[in-house]
Amino acid sequence: MNFSKIGMETKTAKLLDGKALAEKIHQELIDTITELQPLKGRPPGLAVLMVGDNPASAAYVRNKERACAKVGIASAGKHFPTEVNGRELEAVIQALNEDERVDGILVQLPLPSHLDAVRLLNTIAPEKDADGLHPVNMGRLMRGELGLRSCTPAGVMRLLQEYDIPLKGKQAVVLGRSILVGKPQALMLLEADATVTIAHSKSENLATITKNADILIAAVGRNGLITADMVKQGAVVVDVGMNRVTDQGGNSRLVGDVDFESVASVAEFITPVPGGVGPMTVAMLLQNTVTSYKRFLKS
Ligand code: GUN
Repeated sequence: MNFSKIGMETKTAKLLDGKALAEKIHQELIDTITELQPLKGRPPGLAVLMVGDNPASAAYVRNKERACAKVGIASAGKHFPTEVNGRELEAVIQALNEDERVDGILVQLPLPSHLDAVRLLNTIAPEKDADGLHPVNMGRLMRGELGLRSCTPAGVMRLLQEYDIPLKGKQAVVLGRSILVGKPQALMLLEADATVTIAHSKSENLATITKNADILIAAVGRNGLITADMVKQGAVVVDVGMNRVTDQGGNSRLVGDVDFESVASVAEFITPVPGGVGPMTVAMLLQNTVTSYKRFLKS
C-alpha cells in the first residue's frame, strides 16, 4: 500500500554515522603524525592499563589498541591480574608519567572493587590523561577552559557538529549522570549554549522530560529504555548505550538504550548501535593522545 497517498507515510531518521566520521578523524591523525614524527623522532605513545579479565573491557581495550596501530600510535598494553594491589598500580602510573615516550595513559574502567579508581585516576599526570577523567581536566571543562576532554561526550559533540545539528538555545536532555558520560556531556552541551536537563534513574515522569528534548542523549545502559512515545517528532537521538543481549538462539549482539526501529520513525537523526558513538569514543582517545604529543613538542 502507498501510505504517503493517504497521509500515513512512515519517516525514517537519518543516521549519524560515527563509524564514517571516526575513519575521517583517523585519516587526519595519520596526516598529523606523519608530519610531526620526523620532528619528534618517535611516534605518539599511549599506555593502556587493564586489570582482571572482564570480557567487555578486554574487547574495548583490543579495539583501542587496534585503532592505535592503524593511525601510527605506539600502544603499550599493561595487563594486571585481578588481585593486583593499588600501590603497585600507582607506581606503574608514576613511572609512565615520567616516561618521555608516553603521551597518554588510560586505565580501563570498571576496576575490581578492592581498587580505588578515583585515587588511581588522580595519579595520572593531567597532561597525559588521554581519557579526560582526571579532576583537573574535569575542572577545566567545568570552568570552560581548554583541557583534555572525556572521550565519549567529546565524540558525541563532534558527531553533532559534523552533521550541523544546531545546539544554541535548544532543549538537550541527557539521560544518565555518570562521570564517564552524563555529567561531562551535560557540561559540553551547556558550553555549546544548549538548555540542558540531566535525568537519571530516580527521575519522575521520565517520558515527559524526554518528550521535551530537541536533542536526547541516552547514556543509561538499559536495553530498549527509550521508545518512540518518549521522543519528540524531529528530535536528534544519540544512543550511548552498549548492552550485550543474547537471543533465543544463543547469539549475542550489541544494542543501545534506544529502541532503534520505533524511534527512527519519529526522530530526524539517530545514531546506530554499533557504529554510532562507540567508534567516536575511540577516535577521541586517539585525538587526545595526539594533542598531548603536540603539546610535548613545544616543551
Ligand atoms: N569503560 C567504558 N568506557 C570507558 C572509557 O571510555 N574509558 C575507560 N577508561 N574505561 C571505560
